[in-house]
Amino acid sequence: MRVHVADHPLITHKLTVLRDKTTPSPVFRALTEELVTLLAYEATRGVTVEEITIQTPVTETVGVKISEPRPLVVPILRAGLGMLEGMVKLLPTAEVGFLGMVRNEETLEPTTYAERLPDDLSDRQCFVLDPMLATGGSLAAAIDFLFQRGAMHVTAICLLAAPEGLERLEAETAGKDVTIVLGALDEKLDENGYIVPGLGDAGDRLYGVV
Ligand code: PRP
Ligand code: URA
Repeated sequence: MRVHVADHPLITHKLTVLRDKTTPSPVFRALTEELVTLLAYEATRGVTVEEITIQTPVTETVGVKISEPRPLVVPILRAGLGMLEGMVKLLPTAEVGFLGMVRNEETLEPTTYAERLPDDLSDRQCFVLDPMLATGGSLAAAIDFLFQRGAMHVTAICLLAAPEGLERLEAETAGKDVTIVLGALDEKLDENGYIVPGLGDAGDRLYGVV
């Protein structure tokens, strides 16, 4: 598993505003989108391309285009939905599949309540979107789901992660082609499974308490 932690003042600045508990939902949503676009630049570094020949107004030249099958972007509902627009802004030709998962706040184990993905993900590059990698249970289950359908490579983009969650993912995805791109790696999980210092409940801050 490869882990890339962003190191850019613009990302740290936007994350600081996102962490602030006084930041209201509309600003939180806008910043989430902007952060994903910045992180997507790094996350798509390995996207498969092939050479094509085109005519410029001056001459013929060789460039590249993103290969088929198209990459698949998979936001994990709810909070991952807040990252979708920022991702497809950079990768407009991607297909989008959905996974709905919720973590039981007592056992911290995830349950999958919705799934809309292609049956066959053979040769697909998949990009999973979830702002929070806490215990890692939700992301590990999502990644396992995609590999079971034949995915070739999975890149996850998360705004924040806890070291405990990364360790779990490392163990559970051993031998698989997985990349994790993070806005920041935080200190730890608290006794309720929340990331510290974190930003609180990402889904609630994006969409309100349900
Ligand atoms: C949050 C978050 C992740 C998960 C992370 O979702 O968006 O999916 O928790 O926790 P884990 O790493 O310990 O599994 P939540 O279950 O709160 O659902 P929501 O997005 O609908 O708010
Ligand atoms: N889910 C969140 O939304 N925030 C956390 O800190 C942990 C899990």
